[in-house]
Amino acid sequence: MEFNQQLLVDSLKAEYQQQDIPFSLHIFSTLSSTNQTLWQLIDQGEKPGCVVIATQQTAGRGQWGRQWQSLAGGLYLSMVIDSQLKAINSYQLTLASAWGITAQLRKSGIPVGIKWPNDLVLDGRKLGGILTETKVNQGQITQAVIGVGINWENQVPETGINLQLWQNSRNYQMIHHLEVLTSQVLIGIKSGIECLQVEGINTLLPRYLNVLVNIGDQVYVNNILGKIVGVTQEGNLRLQVITDDPKAILTPEISVQPGTISLGYSQTGN
Ligand code: BTN
Repeated sequence: MEFNQQLLVDSLKAEYQQQDIPFSLHIFSTLSSTNQTLWQLIDQGEKPGCVVIATQQTAGRGQWGRQWQSLAGGLYLSMVIDSQLKAINSYQLTLASAWGITAQLRKSGIPVGIKWPNDLVLDGRKLGGILTETKVNQGQITQAVIGVGINWENQVPETGINLQLWQNSRNYQMIHHLEVLTSQVLIGIKSGIECLQVEGINTLLPRYLNVLVNIGDQVYVNNILGKIVGVTQEGNLRLQVITDDPKAILTPEISVQPGTISLGYSQTGN
């Protein structure tokens, strides 16, 4: 399966009205991991806007040290972004990218949502995921890479969904080519990160919450039942404790860090 670079460039040029596109593209057939290759390119001097795309990966990295199955037919890309954030806020890069991609795909008519913290979901199944990696010096992020995997026409596990099968089930193609999906994802990451940088987390967070599919769900954390009411600026899940005490007026809130609990899906990655 060949990746058509010209089609990607044309699709990006259409978005940027034929001006220079703000990405430097590096396209490969098989890589271990696009994140890994991008870090090597950064060491060689590549700057924000540098993008690595692979048609498949042999050691794709998922969240929490998992593997990301990366057979041909999926979208695998990584982008260097500019970040002035403190390390304690690094999760904001994932929230921003997830929101940006979701908003961009929704513009194409695909009703994607976000499952906290970093999953792109469609019809309740996992369409893709985001892995942000950073380098930190004295509590400050110095370099950041956003990695995105999206199921296009690759095989997926039971809990996953691929976009081509979903489009076929609707008898309508909103996105016709992997290269067009790629352009939408790149534009989405860029716009999400710009929203965070220019307008700030106070603007980004309500937008993220607006497309979060988990609001109102009930989950147990350490045997405490809570209702999901939001996400903190650091990316933690906010839960309002549910009590069966009829006299309780104010119920406490607890927050849970990403990676501490799973809101669904099996352990298999995509
Ligand atoms: C997740 O676990 O949900 C995040 C998965 C992120 C996978 C992508 S595929 C492209 C990039 N390169 C990697 O090695 N991982 C990310």
